[in-house]
Amino acid sequence: MEETQNKKTIFSGIQPSGIPTLGNYLGALRGWGELQNEYNCIYSVVDMHAITVKQDPAQLRRRTLELTALLLACGVDPEKSLLFIQSHVPAHAQLAWILNCNTQFGVLSRMTQFKDKSATHADNVNAGLFTYPILMASDILLYQADAVPVGADQKQHLELARDIAQRFNGAYGDTFTVPEPIIPKVGARVMSLQEPTKKMSKSDENINAFISVLDRPDDIMRKFKRAVTDSDAVVAYKEGKDGIINLMSIYNSATGKSFEQIEAEFKGRGYGDFKTAVGEAVVEVLKPVQAKYDDFMKNKDYLSSIYSESAKKAIAISNRTLYKVYKKVGFVKREF
Ligand code: TRP
Repeated sequence: MEETQNKKTIFSGIQPSGIPTLGNYLGALRGWGELQNEYNCIYSVVDMHAITVKQDPAQLRRRTLELTALLLACGVDPEKSLLFIQSHVPAHAQLAWILNCNTQFGVLSRMTQFKDKSATHADNVNAGLFTYPILMASDILLYQADAVPVGADQKQHLELARDIAQRFNGAYGDTFTVPEPIIPKVGARVMSLQEPTKKMSKSDENINAFISVLDRPDDIMRKFKRAVTDSDAVVAYKEGKDGIINLMSIYNSATGKSFEQIEAEFKGRGYGDFKTAVGEAVVEVLKPVQAKYDDFMKNKDYLSSIYSESAKKAIAISNRTLYKVYKKVGFVKREF
């Protein structure tokens, strides 16, 4: 990572919970590459967060490597940014313990994601699920991140990280940078192809409802052909036409064409043509990503050298913060 003094630092984490969707790509991941020019970016595949819900070990290992390869394929550049696997950098767990002891139970009980997840995973309401936002705060604060790109679902956790940093600084003296949220430029909000009022989700039971970033051309074309629309047969951005609006937004994101241009292009043509065009545009957008992904997956040694080098640098950076914290809280300096 070319660390430039005047560049601010960004941290972001992503859970290895399966191959991201077209929505994740157009809404967030595609933007990660662009952030690298403006910021020092530190990205992590957060396998330790993933185990707050039950995981199959072999699947977790596979998904962690796949996601790492995919992020590189999406444009994360190891010459500019760090991209490492969270469990390779011990300071995350070490700082989390200290922050655990400095965060009140009541504050964690108010986290809406905990309430939701403890309802959906009622058979496994483990302590890690409860303290998950503290591990996330540790991720961010260890690197003295100035900013964190977050979607709506993580805003409350980022607020908590800011709060933890401010309280710690207040109690022990200046230690952590207080991170600001970066609300991503409105990337596309991609909806389900089958129920266009719902967000596109990789955990949808209906595989026709979402496009995975790794879907092959035939599957992509089939899914778009089956996408739910309406019966007026007019490609127009109008209330009540959720399915068509979703397809128009995807086409807009994939090609850069404006909504007016899209309406003009498909004037007097049927939905069949429009769906084919959207499908082809998406195939084109994903083709280079998939090609790079396949290369990384065929070259595991190269992949490993990238996440390992990044982890070594991350260990050096994070230990500086960790030892500062150890000193502040009164731990005896380790002399060996
Ligand atoms: N909790 C985030 C999510 O589920 C992932 C995450 C972990 C994260 N650590 C982070 C995001 C630090 C931003 C910054 O999406």
